Formats: sequence, C-alpha cells, structure tokens
Amino acid sequence: MDFLKLAKQRYSVRKFLPKPVSDSDLQAILEAGRLAPTACNLQPQRIYAIRSAAGLAKLRRCTSCHFDAPLVLLICYDTSESWKRSFDGFDSGCMDASIVSTHIMLAAAERGLGSTWVCYFDPELLRQEFSLPEQQIPALLLPLGYPAPDATANPMHFQRKDLAETVFYD
Ligand SMILES: Cc1cc2nc3c(=O)[nH]c(=O)nc-3n(C[C@H](O)[C@H](O)[C@H](O)COP(=O)(O)O)c2cc1C
Repeated sequence: MDFLKLAKQRYSVRKFLPKPVSDSDLQAILEAGRLAPTACNLQPQRIYAIRSAAGLAKLRRCTSCHFDAPLVLLICYDTSESWKRSFDGFDSGCMDASIVSTHIMLAAAERGLGSTWVCYFDPELLRQEFSLPEQQIPALLLPLGYPAPDATANPMHFQRKDLAETVFYD
C-alpha cells in the first residue's frame, strides 16, 4: 500500500474481535520490527508476545489499557546492550524500542490488524509479573488484534496540528 495512504488510514484501535492473531500475521509484523534501524545496529529491543490466557491475565493486572486484545506485545529495551552517547550518557534504548514498535504498528495496519501504543502501565508490577531481568526496561505495550466491526477512531485521532505549528525552516 502507498505509505501516505497507510499512515492516513491507521488509527488507534481499542476494540477487537475475540479472534487469535494468526501465526503468519504475528511472524510478519515481528519481521517488520526486526528490520528496523537501531543505534549502531545494536538491536537492544526485547519483545514479549503475550497471548496465553495466563499471560493476558497477568498483563491485564498491569494496565487498564489492554482493550481485551487477544495479543499484546510488551516491548522492552536492554540497557546492557543499548547505545549510550559518550558526551552525556544518553541512552538510545527507548528510541530503538520506539522505531521497532513503529515498524510493527504500521506493518500490522497494512495487514488489517489494529493496535494502540500504550504507555499507561505500572512498570514495577509489569516487571514482577513477567520476571523481567533488571536491565530490561519496559518501553511500551502494543495490544493487537483484528478490529471489531464497530471499532472507531477516538476524536483525538483527527486533531493533527498544521505543519506550520511544528516545523520550522532556517
Ligand atoms: C507514546 C505514546 C503513548 C500512548 N499511550 C497511550 C495509552 O497509554 N493509552 C491509550 O489508550 N492510548 C495511548 N496512546 C495512543 C494515542 O492516544 C494516540 O496515538 C493519539 O491520540 C492519536 O490517535 P491515533 O493513534 O488514533 O491517530 C499513546 C500513543 C503514543 C505515541
């Protein structure tokens, strides 16, 4: 699909069919994430695909923004592998996790899957529930699934600023 068309069509889906995501769709979107660029190509992303009843129950204790999705990707970055800027120690891990997640989100949309980027979760509870190693930082959740027939975009979706408010030429 033409990229701008895909970018315009995508919206945060918060209502899903109670239908498992197929393995072929899951593998295809994970592959799109694998191909994403990361700082120095260090690939510090660590992705947990949560789809078992037990896993989803644990996840749902950590956030109200699960939208009963049949699949949730917990996307972390490993601080022992992420690039650090020598000038000030800035850690690119969150950026790396974000670009991987953006690839996944858009690949999902292209395949007819819906998703919502979620940062509203209890990170300590998440760490406990999934026994995350100390060096792994949870960056975001991506609830995913096939959109319910009556899924609609939130009004926020339509509120994009004009380019003149966010882009400056010099
Ligand atoms: C960094 C980030 C964090 C977000 N966190 C949440 C969240 O915790 N819960 C939620 O329902 N939506 C969350 N969203 C989705 C945004 O609200 C949504 O992308 C925005 O309102 C634009 O709507 P659209 O995605 O439909 O275009 C988040 C999006 C981003 C990029």
